[in-house]
Amino acid sequence: SAQQQAYKDQIKQLLHEKNAVLVAHYYTDPVIQALADETGGCVADSLEMARFGRDHEADTLVVAGVKFMGETAKILSPEKTVLMPTLEATCSLDIGCPIKEFSEFCDAHPDRKVVVYANTSAEVKARADWVVTSSIALEIVQHLMDQGEKIIWAPDQHLGNYIQRMTGADMLMWDGACIVHEEFKAKGLEDLKKVYPNAAVLVHPESPQSVVEIADVVGSTSQIIQAAKTMDNDTFIVATDKAIFYKMQQMAPGKTFIEAPTAGTGATCRSCAHCPWMAMNGLENMAQTLEQSDNEITVDPDVAAKATRSLNRMLDFAK
Ligand code: 13P
Ligand code: SF4
Repeated sequence: SAQQQAYKDQIKQLLHEKNAVLVAHYYTDPVIQALADETGGCVADSLEMARFGRDHEADTLVVAGVKFMGETAKILSPEKTVLMPTLEATCSLDIGCPIKEFSEFCDAHPDRKVVVYANTSAEVKARADWVVTSSIALEIVQHLMDQGEKIIWAPDQHLGNYIQRMTGADMLMWDGACIVHEEFKAKGLEDLKKVYPNAAVLVHPESPQSVVEIADVVGSTSQIIQAAKTMDNDTFIVATDKAIFYKMQQMAPGKTFIEAPTAGTGATCRSCAHCPWMAMNGLENMAQTLEQSDNEITVDPDVAAKATRSLNRMLDFAK
């Protein structure tokens, strides 16, 4: 619409004036992803977002995603201004892992290495030995296991259980979950597979075990987009946030993508394959944030210093 175009023009102008760059996650609205592409920003998974923000020469990062992504960007680039279209966009995994309880849990098991998912607060990252994202979690836990380490894993129990099954590592698990991925249902997925027998099933590992077990490919957002591009199948059933279809269609034109079934539809489903917090990122609040330079992400310097160590272990490992 004309209004949308006006916001887009305003954002482009402001990005230029402020030497700012847009860093967006695959779960944000397609209009945001397109704008990031058009303006030399990035659309990526959470590991790549962290790397892109750290390495970019811009003065300001505009992070379209959820709060932990903004915090990670700030921790890795303390000298940059990090803005987010809203400060309300959180994540059920972050909410479900408060620092006080988590720290007590860690204190009770001092013999274990603390490995936390990127979907956590800066304070939880500061308490951890390692931060991981879904694209590298398996390799890092395998590496720690090879060194004979026992592990505390938080907060996503489904990703944790998946890694545990794959590696056999000794992992003490926090019981968090993603409200979007935990809605996917194995029964519905099996039924849908019968309708599309040639379809490959792509699953994000935050999904329940019964869904992960049906997958042809389990991976981070970037990894399942890559699978959609490289696999021979012309149809894919996808168990993750449906905003990812925008990039999948772009990377694998002509192929068909189908949403994996969830428990309910509409009002009966809290978060039907779309993250309510990712959905808070829009053109209007982005334009306003840039215009007013508000919604700035800050991280306590002591917390940031500690979180940098656990984040850098991941980034150095990923090299
Ligand atoms: P990725 O690291 O795969 O992008 O996942 C981030 C996320 O929040 C998934 O729900
Ligand atoms: Fe968190 Fe799930 Fe939303 Fe990702 S999709 S940000 S894990 S609530």
